[in-house]
Amino acid sequence: MTFDYKVADITLAEAGRHQIRLAEHEMPGLMSLREEFGPTQPLKGARIAGSLHMTVQTAVLIETLTALGAEVRWASCNIFSTQDEAAAAVVVGKGTVEDPQGVPVFAWKGETLEEYWWTAEQILTWPGADSNPELGPNMILDDGGDATMLVHKGVEFEAVGNVPSADPTDSEEYGIFLDVLRRSLEADPKKWTRTAATIKGVSEETTTGVHRLYQLAEQGKLLFPAINVNDSVTKSKFDNKYGIRHSLPDGINRATDVLMGGKVAVVCGYGDVGKGAAEALRGQGSRVIVTEIDPICALQAAMDGYQVAKLESVLAQGDIFITTTGNKDVILAEHMAGMKNKAIVGNIGHFDNEIDMAGLARIPGIKKVEIKPQVHEWVFEAGTAAERSIIVLSEGRLLNLGNATGHPSFVMSNSFANQTIAQIELWTKKDQPAGEREYENQVYVLPKVLDEKVARLHLDALGVELTELTKDQAEYLDLDVAGPYKPEHYRY
Ligand code: NAI
Repeated sequence: MTFDYKVADITLAEAGRHQIRLAEHEMPGLMSLREEFGPTQPLKGARIAGSLHMTVQTAVLIETLTALGAEVRWASCNIFSTQDEAAAAVVVGKGTVEDPQGVPVFAWKGETLEEYWWTAEQILTWPGADSNPELGPNMILDDGGDATMLVHKGVEFEAVGNVPSADPTDSEEYGIFLDVLRRSLEADPKKWTRTAATIKGVSEETTTGVHRLYQLAEQGKLLFPAINVNDSVTKSKFDNKYGIRHSLPDGINRATDVLMGGKVAVVCGYGDVGKGAAEALRGQGSRVIVTEIDPICALQAAMDGYQVAKLESVLAQGDIFITTTGNKDVILAEHMAGMKNKAIVGNIGHFDNEIDMAGLARIPGIKKVEIKPQVHEWVFEAGTAAERSIIVLSEGRLLNLGNATGHPSFVMSNSFANQTIAQIELWTKKDQPAGEREYENQVYVLPKVLDEKVARLHLDALGVELTELTKDQAEYLDLDVAGPYKPEHYRY
């Protein structure tokens, strides 16, 4: 079988396969779902358009989805996050470099923004679907919401018959996105309406993408049911926290190899990601200062022993600045201009708008020096006595995936077990009759028993002995012995 795909170098497949094999050992959740559901093939007939960092761990997710019967096309959800060997191995699958038999992947490390949106379009463009919509994608697996946005904006613009020009206040990326849609509308005026009509649901990986879904649902514009995977406890309280605790220092080390001990690290945001980031930096011996806008999270940070300050008050103290907010304009150009010489600035939130890179580039006399890919020195007042510089990681994009390889397998096994279960839920329940439908065009979180199941799948590998409730104790607490063990409002 030959199929279309685009990766950096297909001959990297063997190297990727070795890494995937080791990752499988560290991903007990996904491997036990393969065992449990392989025989019944619950995803048979599902054609999944996946947009999520094309890493080794994602390769194990993709091959779990296909082991459960799905057909898949995949792109990365960030221009720097692909591991090229993983992408190659997924394409080759059980075939050879000459005769690949895996999954069509459209992803490579270092895409341009034009290429990025081209890859997003490819995962939603299935062979033959222009003449037979039944051959098109019928599920989306998203991270950050770009694939979902492409479909929704496509439908919106098709309805009015044109794509607007970018506003001067829009980002360069949004302008490129509009260009892609304009071209697709010219070539096929009903493509996105047709595509949306076949899609049965989306499962969304991250805080930022989930935020977009709730906005669509509130406006009554969500075109298909959505499962918020991020807010499974076994996702956000694990991947966002413990994953970051691992992959933030990994990214800083690979990028700069600077000693973090004794340095002052400023973490903007103390949500799940911020908590993991602050803990990691403290673990390395940094003195950590947190900035927050939410009094609850600010108080938590203070109780956890961190100084909480406004960014402006600590600019001259910080050696390392990390944004984790999912918000825009958190570190502005004037902030960067006020930092000490060789301060390191990085973002680990989903989008690159947390750090004002465009404003930095506009500072008069500024010079950008590439130290190595994804590590840049920005020199202020170059050649004068006042010359100073800061180091910006991954051009303001998420540094744990740009400068390192993202979260480790074991924690991603939790996140991706939730993704797999969410896809099964949406796909197997799509034909429920009206009135009995469990998933309407709204955003849902997986039921707690499934969340607990994901945790359970990971206990043995860590040698955890779980205490069992006696029947008597269960009655006393008004619980079922088999769970769920906590009410919906419990916060962990
Ligand atoms: P969250 O909502 O739990 O935390 C964000 C925190 O930032 C909140 O406490 C909020 O009050 C605070 N915040 C907002 N604006 C701020 C400002 N101007 N200054 C200081 N604090 C501010 O979200 P979570 O789950 O921690 O995710 C944060 C971002 O990280 C999202 O974009 C998410 O998609 C992304 N993410 C990235 C991962 C990675 O591997 N790089 C993994 C998981 C999530």
